[in-house]
Amino acid sequence: QRVAILISGGGSNMVALVRSMTGDHPARPVLVLSDNPEAGGLVRAGALGVPAVAVDRRRFGRDRAAFERALTEALAPHRPDLICLAGFMRILSADFVRPWAGRMLNIHPSLLPLYPGLHTHRRAIEAGDRWHGCTVHEVTEELDAGPILGQARVPILPGDTEAALAARVLEREHVLYPAVLRRLCEGQRGRIDL
Ligand code: GRF
Repeated sequence: QRVAILISGGGSNMVALVRSMTGDHPARPVLVLSDNPEAGGLVRAGALGVPAVAVDRRRFGRDRAAFERALTEALAPHRPDLICLAGFMRILSADFVRPWAGRMLNIHPSLLPLYPGLHTHRRAIEAGDRWHGCTVHEVTEELDAGPILGQARVPILPGDTEAALAARVLEREHVLYPAVLRRLCEGQRGRIDL
């Protein structure tokens, strides 16, 4: 299985995924692609020996279709079978997502269906929730709403700041995402709950 990973920033989830695809793992990373040429994850991908490319979203202004065509052109030479969105901060159109149905994953920092969208940690704290976490799901045309492939839970502790909670969730993302990817690549079904 040839895996492309899309990032926008530091790429800590990308690093965890790349590091997991070794030995008898049926998948290998073939490309790291960022919409942000300054993404730190591009340098980290290069250091891990994975081809790293930026398609600068600023070149396309408001023309999302042209931006997505550029993404498709950047992906094509690497012939990915699967796309992992990992800290990728652009909303992809239905036209882009449709051909990847069942072959595009995303990790979202909440226990979906709770808190789709942004600022998930702050919203969970403000709601007084006792539990929070992260979700890996199939990407569909509706934002943060595809079939759930795995979740990991963390407690929200008294006095938790948004930063403390975000760090606790991120650590679990780095365990959950590689576990879900491997299970999918091995053709196994069923959710992973950590
Ligand atoms: C983090 O907030 C993570 O929860 C979400 O994307 C952000 C950046 O992740 N998935 P990464 O370090 O770029 O993987």
